[in-house]
Amino acid sequence: MRILFIGDVVGRTGREAVGAALLSLRARLGLDLVVVNAENASHGFGLGPDMADALFAAGADVLTLGNHAWDRKEIIPYIAQQPRLLRPLNFPPGTPGAGAAVVEIAGGRRALVLQAMGRLYMEALDDPLRGTAEALARHRLGVTVQAIVIDFHAEATSEKMAFAHSFDGKVSLVVGTHTHCPSADHQILPGGTAFQSDAGMSGDYDSVIGMQKDAATLRFWRKMPGERLQPAEGEATICGVFVETDDATGLARRIAPLRMGGRLSQEMPPV
Ligand SMILES: [Fe+2]
Ligand SMILES: [Fe+2]
Repeated sequence: MRILFIGDVVGRTGREAVGAALLSLRARLGLDLVVVNAENASHGFGLGPDMADALFAAGADVLTLGNHAWDRKEIIPYIAQQPRLLRPLNFPPGTPGAGAAVVEIAGGRRALVLQAMGRLYMEALDDPLRGTAEALARHRLGVTVQAIVIDFHAEATSEKMAFAHSFDGKVSLVVGTHTHCPSADHQILPGGTAFQSDAGMSGDYDSVIGMQKDAATLRFWRKMPGERLQPAEGEATICGVFVETDDATGLARRIAPLRMGGRLSQEMPPV
């Protein structure tokens, strides 16, 4: 199975870049499954229902959120009736929406997509390790589902690595989101799980993690609340991770970063 995970889409420039590129990327890379983190799609904060619809129409199979899940309140009724929009599975019981979805893929195959959120330098939540282990207990990689993709939304690289090693051999891909900077540690772990500690954002990199640099920088100088942060609107770099898996085992055969457009060095996975 060929899978593309795209990191945090930030603002209009991120939405438009991803929206314009997804269908051609699906064809060029022969993709079976596309997962997009969209927690910052709405002006940097949250996701509007119209934007979710547009990303699905553009070629995303599953959208994930994160700590900005509820910044746009209109997404609360939307997520309750859209099983392919995920929020972290370790929110407290009773939270609207789901943290996992099974997607039907061409050829009678199925993929499980999950999102969990870290706790180090983040809001206190239920245990992401136990929550993920419980969600995984309902499936078997290579038997009930041919691939399992986990978006681990977390600040600390240490927590991301510990999380990935915990599920090595049990899932196809663990990819980090939230820091908005693509890491260069993509690898297949010893048990066969592909891992990259952060996919990076899909947004303008002449910025402070996607937001206009002047106002964001002043906050660090002054240590006082400043003007509301606005997304930077220069050309976006689409950042993502490409993985090819073996349908029989569900494990990864290869992992390659994707960076397309904008300021960062360009990377296109070889087909
Ligand atoms: Fe983000
Ligand atoms: Fe985040």
